[in-house]
Amino acid sequence: MPLTRKAYRAAILHSIADPAEVGIEASYEYFEDGLLVVDNGQISALGHASELLASLPADIEITHYQDALITPGFIDTHIHLPQTGMVGAYGEQLLDWLNTYTFPCESQFADQAHAEEVAGIFIKELLRNGTTTALVFGSVHPQSVNAFFEAAEKLDLRMIAGKVMMDRNAPDYLTDTAESSYLESKALIERWHGKGRLHYAVTPRFAPTSTPEQLTLAGQLLSEYPDLYMQTHISENLQEVEWVKELFPKRKGYLDVYDHYQLLGERSVFAHGVHLCDDECARLAQTGSAVAFCPTSNLFLGSGLFNLPMAEKHKLNVGLGTDVGGGTSFSLLQTLNEAYKVMQLQGARLSPFKSLYLATLGGARALRLEERIGTLQPGTDADFLVLDYNATPLLSYRLKQSKSIAETLFVLMTLGDDRTVAQTYAAGNLVHQR
Ligand code: GUN
Ligand code: ZN
Repeated sequence: MPLTRKAYRAAILHSIADPAEVGIEASYEYFEDGLLVVDNGQISALGHASELLASLPADIEITHYQDALITPGFIDTHIHLPQTGMVGAYGEQLLDWLNTYTFPCESQFADQAHAEEVAGIFIKELLRNGTTTALVFGSVHPQSVNAFFEAAEKLDLRMIAGKVMMDRNAPDYLTDTAESSYLESKALIERWHGKGRLHYAVTPRFAPTSTPEQLTLAGQLLSEYPDLYMQTHISENLQEVEWVKELFPKRKGYLDVYDHYQLLGERSVFAHGVHLCDDECARLAQTGSAVAFCPTSNLFLGSGLFNLPMAEKHKLNVGLGTDVGGGTSFSLLQTLNEAYKVMQLQGARLSPFKSLYLATLGGARALRLEERIGTLQPGTDADFLVLDYNATPLLSYRLKQSKSIAETLFVLMTLGDDRTVAQTYAAGNLVHQR
């Protein structure tokens, strides 16, 4: 295959470590006039344009983006494909919201044509917002996951998804059985896990909608295949936490239910965790599990404020989740805008570099994919974004006042959204252009 080599010139910024561990200054690299070189879908060099240009052949194709910032693609560690059509459902908190809006909306995915239509809309929306990798809940129907992976494969995206397992406490039209969920998940794993850049996640919806038999089989799937992911919800809402205690009276608490069924581990991602206690954070960290922080959802559903400093204290891996449709935006920039306010309400700060980390390398580490995505290090996949400083008149005017990359980054996260993402590249291919 002939070598396809391209270079991109712009301001370039990426996280290289967690600011909580190394301090802010050592957590990022910034090139005011940078060059990113891409060979066959992978990054082959990154540096100052003045230094790198001399080492490249004179005829190399260079795309120069003015007034723009190149960053790694964003990573959404928690989102629901079949809730694309119900963002902004009025008036309820978690359990009533599920029964009133979510389950009826997800039931439409029994229809293959509907699943394909929404998968297309969903992937376009991810890319428009600069999300190049997501950990995705399908519906209970395998066709929701097949439709998603088929669309993601065509664009050579790095994506993770799974069919919801749910065999109780939901309408009959939306439940599987322990056995059917096992067999359907297995068939999806055999078809998709490890194909190109696709990975499978075993997906019990949350403890209340699975019988002990189903949770046992979820654990069994994880033991049968290497490197499978596990995604579920935990401790999002106080009524939910109480319900789990009633349903599983022998367990010490919510996390212990999942622990008992061997669902914790290095590729396990628990969404929300708003009401986790100290011991539960410690156990999550000890098992290498990760939590998805979902601020727009936690505010919209009135769930509560995620305690990021507690997670940091335990060195728990945390990624960022939009949680669409409980969340109100596909944009990780807007998600960071809300994350900042969640920290403010707890008397804490969220620095722009910690925010960048959460949306990129932090998410990659939560997914154990930091060797492939989340930074612009040579040798990783060329999944990157071009953020436009002139995306809106206000952003343009505001950024002209900026005195540092820290200020620019923070303003991008406060005023930015899908309009800010001018180009999205995945595996070196242009997959979205505004
Ligand atoms: N808990 C169980 N299912 C869901 C869901 O679909 N969304 C959210 N936010 N929480 C859940
Ligand atoms: Zn969710």
